[in-house]
This record gives sequence, C-alpha cells and structure tokens, in this order.
Amino acid sequence: MKVVQTIHEFKALNLPRPLGFVPTMGYLHEGHILLVKQAKAANKTVAVSIFVNPTQFGPKEDLASYPRDIPRDLAMLEKAGTDVVFIPSAAEMYPEGYDTWVEVEKLQKHLEGDSRPTHFKGVTTVVNKLFNIVMPDNAYFGQKDAQQLLVIMKMVKDLNMNLQVIACPTVREPDGLAMSSRNTYLTPEQRQAAPVLRKSLMLAKEMYDKGERDADKIRAAMIALLKTEPQGQIDYVSIADTGTLNELKIIKGQALVSLAVKIGKPRLIDNIILG
Ligand code: PAF
Repeated sequence: MKVVQTIHEFKALNLPRPLGFVPTMGYLHEGHILLVKQAKAANKTVAVSIFVNPTQFGPKEDLASYPRDIPRDLAMLEKAGTDVVFIPSAAEMYPEGYDTWVEVEKLQKHLEGDSRPTHFKGVTTVVNKLFNIVMPDNAYFGQKDAQQLLVIMKMVKDLNMNLQVIACPTVREPDGLAMSSRNTYLTPEQRQAAPVLRKSLMLAKEMYDKGERDADKIRAAMIALLKTEPQGQIDYVSIADTGTLNELKIIKGQALVSLAVKIGKPRLIDNIILG
C-alpha cells in the first residue's frame, strides 16, 4: 500500500483502471471499510483519502478535536486491500490565496444545511478537488450521510463529471446505532441513549408499513419517542422528498426520513428511506 501526501505525487501515479475512490476524514470504522471492500470488488485499484477538511466545519464545530489516528487508519486500510492512501495537509489542499468554491445551491439548504449553513460548500468543494486529483472511475459514499450523498450526486450530474457515485449501506453497531467517527465522543451513559435515533426511525417504518401516510403524524410520533430520552436534544426530524429534500405532508412515493439529535457533545444523524 502506497501512502502519498502531495497532489503532485498522486497525479504522477499511473494507477491501473478502473479506479475506485473512497474519500474519508479518517478515524475509520467498519462503515468506511465496507466502502473500501465494495470499491475493491468492482475496481482494479482502490484509493482512499484521509483529510479532515477544515472548510466543512463551522466556527463553533469540532475541527480541532475531531478524532485522528493515522497509524490505526493505515493498518485498517492495508488489511482491507487498499492500494493507495492520499493524506494531504490543509496547506496542500488550500494554499495561501485559495479562492474557488463549488456549491449545489438548493439541495444544500435543507436539513443539515439549516443547522450547518456553510457545511456543504466545504464538502462539495473538497470532494470536487479530490475528484480532480484522484480522477476516479467510481467514488463510494455511505448512505448514513444521505444529504451529502444527494448533494454529491447532483454536483456530479450538473457538472458532467466523468465518474459514477456509488451509495453504500449504513453499517450499524449491534444495538442499531449507525457507526460514526463522532460516536467516540459519547460517554457510556450517552452511548446507551444513542440508539434512540434508530428506534425512532424504526417507529416511522412500522407506522408506514401499517399504512400511515400522514407525514405530520409520523414526525410527531418520532419526536414523542425521542423525547423519552432525556439526554437527547432534537435538532430536526424530517420526512422529505428524496429528490428535492422538501418536507412532505403526505407520503406518496419515496420519502427520506432523517434526523439529527445532539446527545452530549456529538450531534448524531441517521436516516431511512420509506417506499
Ligand atoms: O463524509 C465525509 O467523511 C466527508 O464529508 C468527505 C466526503 C470525506 C468530505 O470531506
């Protein structure tokens, strides 16, 4: 497994194609490893980036304390069969005078965008830059960050980028908690409380499966369940159109049910698709 730190070095590699790419911010877990394994199964070469992208963190967010452990990440990536790891510095990605941004205007405004107004501008810009550096044939993203996935798919379509975006399922702990690098912030009591997100999504699915289509009723039941957990602070509970992310009153086709709940320090997100 090759580890490269500069854009120049990465671009000089003559990697066999098809090339699968998994962009990450490191502190890897089984969710990332599933992305690598899916990339491995469908491509001749797999490249992974590790870059804690400063531009997608708000001024009051956890950029400085975001968990990092490169030696552990490299061991996991090597075991999963990664061919190349790209670990650029912030100065390499955003040199002095950097001034170009990519935005998906409407889709970035809902859900996560309401609470984190500059987040997706940072994500789409860095993913665009990483795509230009790595030039992958296939890029792999997890469904846990459902809005991120939709925003990136839209960017790739709108900018006629020459690659496929592949969505991979969320990997969960045995009690249903979606794996996330930020789960490490949870204290033991908060960790016990955290599966309430998944429980409320399962309640939405149960109501939908029994024939409920009134989104307000499902939202209200989810909120009531979340409120039984005193450690949780609800940020949003959304039932939205999977194409536009506009909130739904009545579920007709597919619906993205998603939520963000602060449990102690971390703000956890999860989602499910109905229909
Ligand atoms: O999902 C992530 O880890 C990040 O948002 C990504 C896609 C690597 C961009 O920094």
